[in-house]
Amino acid sequence: MSKGLFITFEGPEAGGKSTQIALLKEFLEENSKDVVMTREPGGTAAGEVIRNLLQHDKAGENMVGEAETLLFEASRSQLVAEVIRPALSEGKVVISDRFADSTVAYQGYGRGFGVEAIGQLNDFATGGLKPDITFLLDISVEDGFKRIDDRNAANNTSKDRLESEAVEFHERLRDGFLEMAANEPERFVVIDAKGTIEEIYEEIRDCVNMRL
Ligand code: TMP
Repeated sequence: MSKGLFITFEGPEAGGKSTQIALLKEFLEENSKDVVMTREPGGTAAGEVIRNLLQHDKAGENMVGEAETLLFEASRSQLVAEVIRPALSEGKVVISDRFADSTVAYQGYGRGFGVEAIGQLNDFATGGLKPDITFLLDISVEDGFKRIDDRNAANNTSKDRLESEAVEFHERLRDGFLEMAANEPERFVVIDAKGTIEEIYEEIRDCVNMRL
């Protein structure tokens, strides 16, 4: 049995996860908690190589959905074994920017592989590990894409492989996230990502505070 607290942040593109994760980490550390922050795909040496292949590397351009799915799971299994389980067993708070729910949303709903098949792969990769709290930063596809376009214009960057998928793909995965949250209301906290950074932070902080 783990003694720590496992918190994940999920949602469609550009919901503001990184900003909120940084604020929550700061709050927890101010309250003397030992925090491990990680992300998916990535978070380990092998995982970061997989992340690059999935997002930016030219070698990943023609990747089929099945390979994509298994690479997300490969990155996850390494992260669970190397980082998440050890930290939880030491009583730490683990915050992950995305986890298994993203594969259900993006590959299960978005790519159409189905919730059941992805659920089995997730169980294999994680050994059944589930987050204690999942914050779903919900944003419409239109608003998310506007943020991505603004960010790319400001940084002179361009959309990555998954951001470049059709609007319908992103609509399906957003609906998928909301359906998952409705099915597991005890774990998910759905937050309207259109709120101000401060409003969203307070909601997250209060919720985590109650669980500590
Ligand atoms: P992010 O760090 O900006 O959220 O980027 C991760 C990207 O990978 C994002 O487009 C969501 C996608 N993704 C999946 O498609 N399936 C997964 O299982 C995970 C973890 C991420």
